[in-house]
Amino acid sequence: MKFGSRRIVLVVMGTVVACMLAVALASGQAGQEPRPQMAENVFKNVQVLKGIPVDEFMDTMGMISAAVGLNCLDCHTGDSDKSWDRFAADTTMKQTSRKMLLMVNALNKDNFAGVRSVTCWTCHRGDLRPTVVPNLSVQYSPPAEDVNTVEIRPGGGGRSPDEIFNKYIQALGGAQQLARLTSYAAKGTYTGFDTHHTKVPVEIFAKAPAQRTIITHAAFADRVAAYDGRSGWVAAVEKPLPLLPLTGGNLEGAKIEATLSFPAGIKQAFSQWRADSTSIDDKDVTVLQGTNPRQPPLNLYFDQSGLLVRMVRFADTPIGRVPTQIDYSWQSTPRGSADRRQRKPGTRKKEGTTKGTVGAVYDRPRCHN
Ligand code: HEC
Ligand code: HEC
Repeated sequence: MKFGSRRIVLVVMGTVVACMLAVALASGQAGQEPRPQMAENVFKNVQVLKGIPVDEFMDTMGMISAAVGLNCLDCHTGDSDKSWDRFAADTTMKQTSRKMLLMVNALNKDNFAGVRSVTCWTCHRGDLRPTVVPNLSVQYSPPAEDVNTVEIRPGGGGRSPDEIFNKYIQALGGAQQLARLTSYAAKGTYTGFDTHHTKVPVEIFAKAPAQRTIITHAAFADRVAAYDGRSGWVAAVEKPLPLLPLTGGNLEGAKIEATLSFPAGIKQAFSQWRADSTSIDDKDVTVLQGTNPRQPPLNLYFDQSGLLVRMVRFADTPIGRVPTQIDYSWQSTPRGSADRRQRKPGTRKKEGTTKGTVGAVYDRPRCHN
């Protein structure tokens, strides 16, 4: 096992370039899996973070690591990468973190009606030692806006969500072309922290409206992530369970990513959309925010040609919301015509990179039909 880089611990970057073969997926066995196990039943020494499933527990570990700028082994014993059991041993850092977990819970309970208004990030901001003295250059510089958490002013971009969706569908080749795409099998390559940043082969199987399986052939073992339309799992050696069921925000995230494999369905997946404009790397983008009651939002960012350039989604944990960011870059293949409306859905190459505190995926194959 190897756990990530120092700063952003569970970061995945991926690229997929592949061909379409239109192979259908076997349909899943939804509803038959047992209830997911809770962290305290799988691990040996959980004292505070009880009552959450294992995938969410691992998200909180990623979240803590990102908030204080540490690697897993900085809080756990140096030999913890040898076996999962060793994470149970207590260290001073771990004990301090437990106190911090209780402190943050109490802060929110006593002052913010139990809403998670204060998180590890609020004070630490990626540093072990929160700063004490105000920084004058921060006060007198223009505010650095985080485009992922930008406030969406309804109608702020001067365009309606429908206009933006229509332009996206047009940019992909039009509704008719997309309607014909109902399943595909794709091959490509994948690069991620879990492959030590080396390129490895990957296979994707997707079936409309929202089923997707991804098999990553890493050097040490295969990693399989599947969403069957209702349930999702990951099987990988770097996970604490042989078959890790996805729950809550991770399950919702798997569904969103599977739905985005067939873009025509994404609009219906959210009950409300709001549009605004902002910029990524000094380039103007339109942002659409989809919301459903009692769920974190989904942000989609489109460039001036109407194509999706970023997706940001969030999963809730007991210590705050974990963001997952997937960036896409597009370029025409030699066969692509200058007129976008003439293009078939698959005649573009799409490369995606993923950033976030949760490991995730790249997307979208390149096809030659
Ligand atoms: C800032 C310190 C810190 C960092 C960094 C950290 N952890 Fe933890 N970890 C903890 C604390 C505190 C607990 C105990 C939680 C509790 O008692 O509820 C814990 C518990 C665990 C457990 C349960 C072990 C057992 O058997 O009881 C595992 C597994 C684990 N961490 C894995 C990880 C992984 C993987 C990473 C890197 C992604 C990581 N941790 C990063 C503080 C940290
Ligand atoms: C209200 C502000 C605040 C919040 C919220 C907060 N911390 Fe801290 N944390 C501090 C301060 C202040 C220190 C002491 C730093 C020092 O010694 O200079 C500290 C110290 C630590 C240390 C020990 C650093 C060391 O060098 O020994 C760890 C680990 C830590 N915090 C983890 C966390 C985790 C995990 C969370 C979220 C559950 C969290 N903190 C939330 C303010 C905060």
